[in-house]
Formats: sequence, C-alpha cells, structure tokens
Amino acid sequence: MTDSSETLSNLLHEQRRFEPPRDFTASANVGAATYEQSEADRLVFWAEQAQRLQWESPWSEVLQWRPPFAKWFVGGTLNASVNCVDRHVAAGHGEQVAIHFEGEPGDTRTITYAELLEQVCRAANALTELGIEKGDRVAIYLPMIPEAVVAMLACARIGAPHSVVFGGFSSQALYDRIVDAEAKLVITSDGGYRRGAPSALKPAVDEALAKGRTTVEHVLVVVRTGQEIDWVDGRDVRWAEALERQPAKHEAPAHDAEHPLYILYTSGTTGKPKGILHTTGGYLTQVSYTHHAVFDLKPDSDVYWCAADIGWVTGHSYIVYGPLSNRATVVMYEGTPDTPHRGRWWELIAKYRVSILYCAPTAIRTFMKWGSDIPAQHDLSSLRLLGSVGEPINPEAWIWYRKVIGGDRTPVVDTWWQTETGAIMISPLPGVTSTKPGSATRPLPGIGADVVDNEGRPVPNGGGGFLVLTEPWPSMLRGIWGDDARYTETYWSRFPEQGYYFAGDGAKKDEDGDLWLLGRVDDVMNVSGHRISTTEVESALVSHPRVAEAAVVGATDPTTGQAIVAFVILRGGGDSDEGELLVRQLRDHVATEIGPIAKPRQIMLVPELPKTRSGKIMRRLLRDVAENRQLGDVTTLADSSVMDLIQAKLPTAAAED
Ligand code: WT7
Repeated sequence: MTDSSETLSNLLHEQRRFEPPRDFTASANVGAATYEQSEADRLVFWAEQAQRLQWESPWSEVLQWRPPFAKWFVGGTLNASVNCVDRHVAAGHGEQVAIHFEGEPGDTRTITYAELLEQVCRAANALTELGIEKGDRVAIYLPMIPEAVVAMLACARIGAPHSVVFGGFSSQALYDRIVDAEAKLVITSDGGYRRGAPSALKPAVDEALAKGRTTVEHVLVVVRTGQEIDWVDGRDVRWAEALERQPAKHEAPAHDAEHPLYILYTSGTTGKPKGILHTTGGYLTQVSYTHHAVFDLKPDSDVYWCAADIGWVTGHSYIVYGPLSNRATVVMYEGTPDTPHRGRWWELIAKYRVSILYCAPTAIRTFMKWGSDIPAQHDLSSLRLLGSVGEPINPEAWIWYRKVIGGDRTPVVDTWWQTETGAIMISPLPGVTSTKPGSATRPLPGIGADVVDNEGRPVPNGGGGFLVLTEPWPSMLRGIWGDDARYTETYWSRFPEQGYYFAGDGAKKDEDGDLWLLGRVDDVMNVSGHRISTTEVESALVSHPRVAEAAVVGATDPTTGQAIVAFVILRGGGDSDEGELLVRQLRDHVATEIGPIAKPRQIMLVPELPKTRSGKIMRRLLRDVAENRQLGDVTTLADSSVMDLIQAKLPTAAAED
C-alpha cells in the first residue's frame, strides 16, 4: 500500500463532515430511497436503470451468471450510438450543443446533436466503405479532438469494437496493442497541439506498422495541425475526404446486449498490458445511470466537463458514453492546463459556464501548488458539483477543491472505479451522502463492495484489508481479450471460495462503515492517475543494451501521487562517470518503449539489488531508499551488506521534466 501507517491514522481521524446543500438535495436526480430500492432486489433495480436506454428488442433475462463470466440483459438488442445521438435528435434536441470543443491554440468548434449525428453517420459509412464489418477491431490513436468521439461512436454504430490507444503512448505500445487486438484499421491524425506547438502522431503509426506484419489494411488520417507527414498510397486515407463522399444518413443495426463495444488496454502486474473487454447493454446501462446519479446531470441546463483524455477509461465512460447517452452538453479541451497560461481551465469554466467538473487529484494538487490566486481571477460561480477520480484524494486537496474551486458551496464526489469496472462503483450521491474529505464513502445503489482480510472475511468497522466486489455488476469487464485464463487468474482467484472480484486495492472501513481507498496492493503504480506496472518499466529498462538488471518502485510524490523510481545495475559494471548521460538515455529509452508517462522520475545506478534468499527483490527496502526513509527490517536479505552498498552510491543523478 502506498500510504504509510502514519498518514493512514491521520486520515481516519478526519473529523470534517460536509452535508449536501439543502437546495441540491431538493432537486437531486437521485434520493436516499434508491439505496433501499436497490437492496430490495438488485436485478430489478438494474433492469429499471436499463430502461433509461432505447432498446430495439427486449431482454429475456437480466443476468446470467456463470462465475466468473456474466451476461447482462440476455437477448436484448440496442445500438450504443443511437442511444448517444439519434434518439436525442429524434426527441427534438437536435439543436442542443453536444460538444463545445476548445483546441489548445484557442480554435473552437460547437457541435450540436444534429451535427454529431451527421458526422457519426458519415463516419460509419466511411468505415463500411473501407471494409470494416461488424466484429472487426479498429484502433483509434487521436488527440483530444471531436473526431475521436465521432470515430468511437461510428465504430459502436456498426458493431466494430474500438481500441483507443492514448496519444501519449509510443509506437511500440501502439504496435503491441494493434497486434493483440488484430486491428484492421487505425484512425489517427497528423498531430495535435501540445504545450503551444504542433506535436506529431502519424509518424508513430507509420513506425508501429513498420515493426512487423499486422492485420491493418488502412490508416484513416484526420488533418488537425497541417504538419508534413509521410503518406502510404493505397493504405492511407484522409478522414475529411472519406467522410465527404458519404451519405449523411446511416441506418444503425441493432446489436446484441453482449456484443463487444470496446477493448481498452491497461497495465497489470506483469509486463503485458491486458485488453479489457466491455460489451454494449450492461456497460451503457451503468455508465448512463451513474452519470445521471453521481453527476446529477440536468440535460437542459448543465454544462459538463470531464477533463480526462479519451485514451483512458474515464474518457470512454464519462466524456463519451455516459454523458452523451444522457444528452449532456460536454466541454472537450485538447491541451494542457498551463497553455498558454496557468488559468486556462478556469478561463474555460467561466467561458462555457461549466456547472459540473470531473478531474483527477493530481491536477488538483498541481493547481494548489500554482496558488489559489489563479482560480480567484476567474468567475467560477457556474460550478455546482465537483468530481474526483483516478487515485486517492488527500483530504487537503479535497478541501482546497471544494473551497477554492467550488466556492465552499459545491458537493465533492470522490469516485472509485477501474478500467475493469467500466463505471463508477463507490461514490457519494451528491444530494444524499454526508461526505468526508478523502473518503469515497460507500458503494452506489446496486453495487456490492466490501473490505476483507486475507481469508476473505469482511473486516469490522475500523478495520483494513482488501477491497472486493461481492456481486456481478452490469458494466463489469467481460474478460481479457483473448485470454480467459488470465481473466480468471487475475481477478477471481484471490478469494475463490467467496467468489469475490479482487480489485487490487487496499481499503479501510471507518467507524461509520465508510470506505477509504489506500492505493494498490500489487505491483501496479499510480502515476498522475495512470496505471503503470513496475514490471512493464523494468522490462523496458532491461531491453536497453547497457542494463543488466532493473527494479522499479512507486515512491510517494506530492504532485503525481506516486512517482517512478528505478534502480539499475549496468552491464559489465559500467560506472557513474557516464552516469548522468546514461540516466538521461535510459529515461528516454523508457519513453520510447512505453511513452513519456512511464519515464522514471529518478534512476539510480547501483552495484546490487536487495534480494531475499529465494531471489525475490525486496521492493520495500528500495521504496525506503526512494522515499528517503530509515531502512526497514533487512534481516531476510540474502546479503545484508547490499543496502550499505546501494546507499553509499546515493544520491545519484536525477532528472526532471
Ligand atoms: C485504479 C484504477 C477509474 C478511472 C481512472 C483510473 C485507483 C481510481 C480512485 C479513487 C482511490 C482510485 C485505484 C484503482 N483509483 N479511482 N477515487 N480513490 N483510488 O482507472 O487506470 O483502471 O485505475 O485507480 O487504485 O484500482 P484505472
């Protein structure tokens, strides 16, 4: 677990309470009675929530559970794209803004639901023309531009599961995902804007496709920056041209509730990312319901902004499928929070009169560091609800968020969930729940979650252990793409007797039974809300010719939550004369292998690694070093002098960017 026991006990002594404002409660989408309704009959509850959607044909069974494989809304059919677009237009809301897009350079686009429908239809026709059929996989590698949303919805429309790859991932990571998903098409752009300058994307696609044989037949290229790019005739197709020549209408087929909607890769405890599979009916039901309940969206008056990237599950569920299925007006911003200045987010909130903001603690901590006077220069009075996601939010960041951004008036919802859960699982309901800074409070209606000990027994209030999900839920992953055994092993083998889903997080129950998430209990790090496995970074390091061995730990970091710290033994015992240069090369190497988000904050060149007699690396001791602490117990080390050797070498060159 990432928190030291000292921080933990501080957390659990948190005395501050925030009740929902009375007027908020009075008009909230969801009231306190929902908990009882859902407890009376969970499946009836979820069936009611599924009625929020437009189904083409009804289901015959709410849940078919053959542990650990679930089918929800068996036999029902629907189209996710119709639910997110067509039905709102058909109901007379075609002129409502679906997306307020703000590019980093300041260019803007306002897209109504009617315009979105036309774009999605043209894109669906274009995909079909390119030979994409139901069931084919499409990789999407795009910046935060509206075409990303259009591409996802067009894939959903024709039943071609999309696999969005975060634009910050390297060509190697893109290649691995294309190969694993056997994608037939890649949708990309020439580039996007990043920190005030055009940044290229298409070259990474070209590089990825040159790495080996793939199943990719075409590359569809959006022109965003106009920068010069290489072009492969016959393979590469311009997005605008492909869409232009299509009819503006497209008849959407109905898909089975269990038809795959998308694959999204996430880090596990081993080096190979897992393709998390989500299907249509249950997923859409739960993202739609949770968006309605947790964000209290009023489609006629709210302006909703989820500041995540579309490359992560937060973007899938709470920029695209949740909000659009609820007819939200969403804000989409391409760039970084400090371009061209550190008040950009607050400027956008004032400009679009954003009423609901959803972002990550790492962003909040960064803004805190920049100072309260920056948001104070902007009119944030439109905000009425704030959300947090991605990592534990420390109480001081929570309080700052509520006070400085929310004017001490908005409820704050700390939402716990994962790529695998598809939708929010643990969160306050803003009109119901009394909140405590730092606690995600309790499972949402219809969700079973608990904290258990090593044997799977629920811990009493005041106790800590492992977070588990005790009942199947509609938006649960249906598996790991192409690897049922790994699915069973990873999530369902920790507590087989009880049949619990093991989330990989440590948690505590306080005296009221409220839940406090404490971070991962496995070898997965959480850096700025992004999951990166220690093994993944170690493999990247070891693939460098100069590296003999590497051990990676996540060290507590005041801004990013955790930071990557690597301990590296050089091949041939090379020494630190070349240290600084080599450290820089190794950091760049990791960026090339995985992506800049995986660059270690610090790399220490060491002569040895601490190992037990059975050869297991003792990361606990390395974490002590990385966090500048007194070393813990070293008695189980095979060679107890190793830690002296390591510490004698420190401090070593550290780089920052
Ligand atoms: C892991 C999942 C959920 C979308 C973004 C991340 C951590 C997530 C919280 C929270 C404490 C949280 C957990 C989880 N996490 N939300 N509110 N409080 N921790 O999705 O990349 O699949 O990561 O993020 O450790 O297991 P993800």
